[in-house]
Amino acid sequence: MALRTIRMQGDPVLGKVCREVVEMTPKIQLLIEDMLDTMYEAEGVGLAAPQVGILKRVVTIDIGDGPLVMVNPVILTSDGEQTAGEGCLSLPGKAGKVTRPNHVIAKAYNENMEEYEIEATELLARAICHELDHLEGHMYTDLVEGDIYDVIDEEEE
Ligand code: NI
Repeated sequence: MALRTIRMQGDPVLGKVCREVVEMTPKIQLLIEDMLDTMYEAEGVGLAAPQVGILKRVVTIDIGDGPLVMVNPVILTSDGEQTAGEGCLSLPGKAGKVTRPNHVIAKAYNENMEEYEIEATELLARAICHELDHLEGHMYTDLVEGDIYDVIDEEEE
């Protein structure tokens, strides 16, 4: 198990657009393993590579259904709307109200560079949207309606 340091909001790396993964390498496989370890250790439901300082289009998510690895993820369609408190491991202890699509269909590659499609609703749809925003250099705080507030025990994405 290898933990990586999670970058905090204000770190310039979180504002950059990430590059596509062109081929799976041992280095990227290690990145994915470390991201999963880091995400679980921090008790987050999602982590994007720039949050550990790597500008690659790699995301890990687990909303409680097991690990989901998304390499070069793309949202194909989205619809509906959900509004809820959202947090981020790069801004611990805080949350804010964000409106996201309630339903998304996305495609991505897994850790073996096999392409797959995923249909997601509710929290998983929210997590996918949140993490994909990181790959474009965006934080949820750009989308917050109202104030960012302190949380004592809320799931962080
Ligand atoms: Ni985040």
